[in-house]
Amino acid sequence: MSSNPQPSQPVDHLFRHARLATLVADDTRPSNGPSNGPSYRPGYGLIDDGALAVRDGRIVWLGSDATLPRFTARQETDCQGQLLTPGLIDCHTHLVWGGDRFQEFEMRLEGVAYEEIARRGGGIVSTVRATRQASEQALYEAALERLRCLSAEGVTTVEIKSGYGLDVASECRLLRVARRLGEQQPVRVRTTFLGAHAVPPEFAGRADDYMDLVVGDMLEAVVDEGLADAVDAFCEGIAFSPSQVERLFLAAKPHGLQLKLHAEQLSNLGGSALAARHGALSADHLEYLDEAGVEAMAAAGSVAVLLPGAFHFLRETQRPPVELLRRHGVPIALATDLNPGSSPLYSLLTALNLGCLLFNLTPTEALLGVTRHAAQALGLDDEIGSLEVGKRADLALWGVTEPAALMGQLGFNPCRGRYLDGRLCWVGEADAPGERP
Ligand code: NIG
Ligand code: FE
Repeated sequence: MSSNPQPSQPVDHLFRHARLATLVADDTRPSNGPSNGPSYRPGYGLIDDGALAVRDGRIVWLGSDATLPRFTARQETDCQGQLLTPGLIDCHTHLVWGGDRFQEFEMRLEGVAYEEIARRGGGIVSTVRATRQASEQALYEAALERLRCLSAEGVTTVEIKSGYGLDVASECRLLRVARRLGEQQPVRVRTTFLGAHAVPPEFAGRADDYMDLVVGDMLEAVVDEGLADAVDAFCEGIAFSPSQVERLFLAAKPHGLQLKLHAEQLSNLGGSALAARHGALSADHLEYLDEAGVEAMAAAGSVAVLLPGAFHFLRETQRPPVELLRRHGVPIALATDLNPGSSPLYSLLTALNLGCLLFNLTPTEALLGVTRHAAQALGLDDEIGSLEVGKRADLALWGVTEPAALMGQLGFNPCRGRYLDGRLCWVGEADAPGERP
């Protein structure tokens, strides 16, 4: 046995003495032991007094601090026993819009239903009017402020949909703003083309004609400029039918675009099963999903993205079928659905809380829903969403030790650091990453 010491490996950033929530496996469950003893922490993959090393933006080592190999670190952070998780992922937002819809909030409280407001020419279409009038710069600045709210709570990846432009130029403008946020701010952005969000006023009563435009010139412009990673549609009585959605999917797939769908939010049209048949990454909302839809999603490996913000703001009473999703092994993700109408929710931590309290998710399921499963809903699970060697060092450091502290309280933000590719940074401070004042 050689007594030569191991040579020291250079790394860029070393995190020490952290409570790592890897979200990879249940490392703390005693084999055949009790499932509810005091030391039981289901499925967070916790490593107490852990360390994690980053080189070139990726995790190159993690494990117990006591077994740390010899590293020479350019930067070292003593986490003092606090929780270090993957950076959070908000996998469903409509972050870029103009105007506001607070009058509709009042109308709903006076008894007018969300669908009725839409039929009267309000709802999504009213945001479309305001968005078309806004300049690209104004849209960027408003979106940046919203993004800052998310990133302050440890979000490192955000999916951003278009859908408030609904003409070729305006849809492209929204997607350009989303892309620019990802280029100029320290955040990973995935963009989704949602031209099939609503029928715009100039096509009122002519949804099929509007779909001609969406699958024709609009999709072509989006593809030509490389503006989208995925397509999405709103499959609902007040929006598009399954056969109209299918046209979009068939047109998008040859361009290599991923598929997602707003489905079963207000009624059951079988949208989730349709999306699953086409290999969609996710179906989202799902309050009215039935077992056949759940089975189709399970067979296709689609993720169920639950949006408790919309459920809450619309005072929905029908809950998504969480028990069926569990039984069939469908991965569950959670997102803010941040938008001006059905979910003006600027806090993914609040979505975690609502997911637990309104949908009966366990805290473990909730945290998986904004990490591993959210990455899967974006097709990024090889890169982000868990702490594993080889993955990107997108991290969130919290001033708490218990994972349940992330969703077991409201209005307190325990985020102490947010790392993209291992670098401490905050959205809105892109030019000066470093310690937050
Ligand atoms: O995800 N369901 C459709 N689209 C959005 C609502 C958009 C709006 O009301 O402006 C949603 O809830
Ligand atoms: Fe949405």
